[in-house]
Amino acid sequence: MSSSLPATARHIILRHRPVGVPQADCFALSETPMPQPGQGQMLVRMLVGSVDPAIRGFLDDRPSYLPPVAIGAPVNGMSLGQIVVSHHPDWPEGAFVRVFGTWSDHFVIGPDALGLERVTPAPGVPLRAYMGALGPVGLTAWVGLFAVGAAKAGETVLISAAAGATGSTALQLAKAAGCRVVAMAGGAHKAQILRDLGADAVVDYRAVPNLGAALDAAAPGGIDVYFDNIGGPTLDIVLPRMHEQGRIALCGMIAQYNDADHPYGVQNLWQMVIKRLTMRGFLTYDHADRLGEAQAMLDRLHHAGRLRPLENIHHGFERLPEAFIALMQGTTTGKTLVEIA
Ligand SMILES: NC(=O)c1ccc[n+]([C@@H]2O[C@H](COP(=O)([O-])OP(=O)(O)OC[C@H]3O[C@@H](n4cnc5c(N)ncnc54)[C@H](OP(=O)(O)O)[C@@H]3O)[C@@H](O)[C@H]2O)c1
Repeated sequence: MSSSLPATARHIILRHRPVGVPQADCFALSETPMPQPGQGQMLVRMLVGSVDPAIRGFLDDRPSYLPPVAIGAPVNGMSLGQIVVSHHPDWPEGAFVRVFGTWSDHFVIGPDALGLERVTPAPGVPLRAYMGALGPVGLTAWVGLFAVGAAKAGETVLISAAAGATGSTALQLAKAAGCRVVAMAGGAHKAQILRDLGADAVVDYRAVPNLGAALDAAAPGGIDVYFDNIGGPTLDIVLPRMHEQGRIALCGMIAQYNDADHPYGVQNLWQMVIKRLTMRGFLTYDHADRLGEAQAMLDRLHHAGRLRPLENIHHGFERLPEAFIALMQGTTTGKTLVEIA
């Protein structure tokens, strides 16, 4: 495989830290001589880049669950790639892998690389699905819904950012589990997508004059599980509408990622006492013991045509920054992916 390697590797580097929604000039394309894997290491060619809201946090100079990206360094991100040179017997050339790497079209990893997993695509399923609904996106939706939210058939599940990557997958998983799903998103186009995906009630928060009243109408018996992707003032509006013993799975708080210096102060936490609620943040890979079960459900539903990956696909390595900027502008639907080849 190595005979067909280009002489250089390309990287998307951070030129300066964004203020607010990232702008194109925050990023630059750079080239280096092709990195050479050392003993026990592998060279990976990126095939599908995953564009995630969490990357916004890594661009600020503040502690997150990973260190900040240094100015001039390649941006961190998950990618699905193929091993093109291997000096490790367990990771052969030609194998597909998912790994937390950098926005680099070729990069070197060791067997202990963060999140490194082998990917074996099923016949007829596009590789990119394993970076979306059949990969980290689906696992996140499953963990939030079932391992953290403990959603059960007959319960009412509210999902924010429900037309996004995680939300659209959580919606379909909750429906498959027999839950009543209230799906929330911004805009008529997204609302139609939610109806098409089978939501029992849809709330277009941009169109309703009073979000609390709209949620009361959509979930008159209260909300058993809130799958929260956004945080912010919406969480305050949802808290009094939770059912007793309800669970809030905190998947993310994207409403504050572009302005992390001014986090929203939630006011209605007393409702957790009144309603005996459980609110728990989670990171998908903390639940490694449940991921086999999760993957089996994702594969089964997809195979049966009951899990439709909703995707927002860009083409070309150099498109990573613009795909990320669009994601952080809040207008995209489905999982934002960049196909490299
Ligand atoms: N815990 C974990 O392990 C884990 C793993 C993956 C992702 N996440 C989190 O899950 C959440 C969803 O991620 P995703 O990849 O599925 O993204 P996404 O939902 O595909 O895209 C983001 C959506 O968030 C909504 N949003 C609300 N307020 C926003 C704001 N101020 N700026 C930008 N967007 C805003 C927008 O939809 P509407 O306007 O329709 O609401 C937007 O389209 C994020 O908070 C992310 O950090 C967590």
